[in-house]
Amino acid sequence: MSENCNEACNTCSVECEDRKEPKEDFSAKLHDFSSVKKVIGIVSGKGGVGKSLLTSMLAVTMQRRGHHVAILDADITGPSIPMAFGITGKVAGSEFGLYPLKSKTGIDIMSINLLLDNETDPVIWRGPIIAGVVKQFWSDVIWNDIDFMFIDLPPGTGDVPLTVFQSIKIDGIIIVTSPQELVSMIVSKAAKMAAKMSIPIIGLVENMAYYQCPD
Ligand SMILES: Nc1ncnc2c1ncn2[C@@H]1O[C@H](COP(=O)(O)OP(=O)(O)O)[C@@H](O)[C@H]1O
Ligand SMILES: [Mg+2]
Repeated sequence: MSENCNEACNTCSVECEDRKEPKEDFSAKLHDFSSVKKVIGIVSGKGGVGKSLLTSMLAVTMQRRGHHVAILDADITGPSIPMAFGITGKVAGSEFGLYPLKSKTGIDIMSINLLLDNETDPVIWRGPIIAGVVKQFWSDVIWNDIDFMFIDLPPGTGDVPLTVFQSIKIDGIIIVTSPQELVSMIVSKAAKMAAKMSIPIIGLVENMAYYQCPD
């Protein structure tokens, strides 16, 4: 027990043996038929810095190295992954769950755009609903024998990143930034959020850092 214990365990962050209430558990269970070895989130506080591009390139690279790769597109209001891979089909489901679509080279992909009738239909839902969908992409989709799953996160430190960090067992995140003061200030917020939630930062990519003159 801590020296300063006032027995108010719900407002105390000290992990001691005498803690009375269990910590709230937000973790979401993976589908019974799924197997996912490593989960890596692609994060930045800011939009347009290249998260989706990096997610796609990492997935393609790891697939080429012989691993079975998946992408969970957690950007529900700005899904870019299906278009990056040229997929327009519809996700199929059965009584057991949803089956991700495969890219030409066999990357398993789940994105809200693979569930909408029209890819330009907007998703106009409140934060908790959107976060719930991301949780379902983890729990209700059958991720078959995946070595590496990359999660393309939306910008910001809102509902979706919070849900992903709390409910999915993430092995690490890769932060994407670009060399502008405004961007790095905001990206720092995402890095601090991850640190606060004890999510390991396994990489930092400074994108759009130079221009190669074509001449
Ligand atoms: N290094 C780069 N060079 C040229 N274009 C890039 C580079 N990185 C990203 N882009 C382009 O910038 C746009 C935004 O990238 P995207 O990956 O969609 O960002 P985010 O997912 O962070 O919003 C896309 O059109 C993408 O192709
Ligand atoms: Mg994106």
